[in-house]
Amino acid sequence: MNNLDIQAIRADFPILKREVNGKPLVYLDNGATTQKPQAVIDAIMAYYTDMNSNVHRGVHYLSQISTDAFEVTRRKVQEFIHAEHDYEVIITKGTTDSINLVATCYGQEFVHEGDEIIISAMEHHSNIVPWQMLCETKKAVLKVIPMNEAGELDMDAYAAMLNDKTKLVSVNYVSNALGTINPIREIIRLAHAKNVPVLLDAAQAVQHLKIDVQELDVDFLVFSGHKMYGPTGVGVLYGKEKWLNAMPPYQGGGDMIKDVSFEKTTYNELPFKFEAGTPNIEAGITLNAAIDYINSLGLDNIKAYEDDLLAYATERLQEVEGIRFIGTAKEKSSVISFVVDGTHPYDIGVILDKLGIAVRTGHHCAQPVMEQYGIPGTVRASLAVYNTKEEIDALVAGVKRAVAMLV
Ligand SMILES: Cc1ncc(COP(=O)(O)O)c(C=O)c1O
Repeated sequence: MNNLDIQAIRADFPILKREVNGKPLVYLDNGATTQKPQAVIDAIMAYYTDMNSNVHRGVHYLSQISTDAFEVTRRKVQEFIHAEHDYEVIITKGTTDSINLVATCYGQEFVHEGDEIIISAMEHHSNIVPWQMLCETKKAVLKVIPMNEAGELDMDAYAAMLNDKTKLVSVNYVSNALGTINPIREIIRLAHAKNVPVLLDAAQAVQHLKIDVQELDVDFLVFSGHKMYGPTGVGVLYGKEKWLNAMPPYQGGGDMIKDVSFEKTTYNELPFKFEAGTPNIEAGITLNAAIDYINSLGLDNIKAYEDDLLAYATERLQEVEGIRFIGTAKEKSSVISFVVDGTHPYDIGVILDKLGIAVRTGHHCAQPVMEQYGIPGTVRASLAVYNTKEEIDALVAGVKRAVAMLV
């Protein structure tokens, strides 16, 4: 069942040895950000110790090796998501930055008055607000695929929404608030049948599920380094060459140009056209180590282990009197959101923190989801490959204790 040595994996993450409030840290806020293995921390040290220099500029030695290392990451990402070309991988600041790039540049070229963009009822704010901003500027219309009580998309409603005015579908692969794994193959198939491109927000997917952009035939895929055991400040926008070439640049500045004069500026080729200015070099280079780390464990092994842990957590938490799970889709990944009768999620979070247990409480940047369920927020435990059943036991005991204190 489990090919991974979880204790050895835990030993790779130095922070997991620390205590919080005098208790061993139980870190269950991986949906917000994951902890970093020693290999990533070492890579960051090595970058500043041996390599620090700007990229894509200097002829000097350090600039060449940092440029090479930055480009190694691009190719590593290409392999990781099985993109056809390395220049279809744009290095960004993160998921939010990647979505804003597409909303701005694709929007500028392809979205006009009266056109429609489709998102879903379970999106993170970063996959709602950029589209609202675009629709406001372009006088376009934002359509929202509804979901049922379990947190599953209404695919009939979605199919009925697609029409000649639809210019893009942008949905998450895995919901950060509910854990739902969306039927993305069907979402893409239906959109493509109407010649509509699809953007997948894979912020909560790349660290749990194998993704092959060519097999999915997805048009855009976005994710963040810091949620996949990598550094903050770096993310990815994958886009099919045909779309990226047809889109205008995002920001103007260094690196994204071929020639600049006061009369006329010409833009650089992909991927640099979309990478204006000095990037987060340290994070760009060390994302490589995070992908190596995931590859060394194997996403199939990670998924099998995390699925088992999710099932265990879901079963054990049912012991808590008055618990209500928010998000009970058949297909789920690594997120358990819940509320408990007579308690506020925040109060449970504070008590868990006193016990050294880190969870997230609140609306998880998905306020419309909370509104649909008529709740102010949830307690969310989100899992990573280093979590254990013992930690789930600690969570269950902690929630029971919190409920006993609060109700
Ligand atoms: C599904 C989803 N999309 C987008 C984001 C935004 O990611 P970032 O803050 O790294 O840009 C998150 C972060 O929690 C997320 O969970």
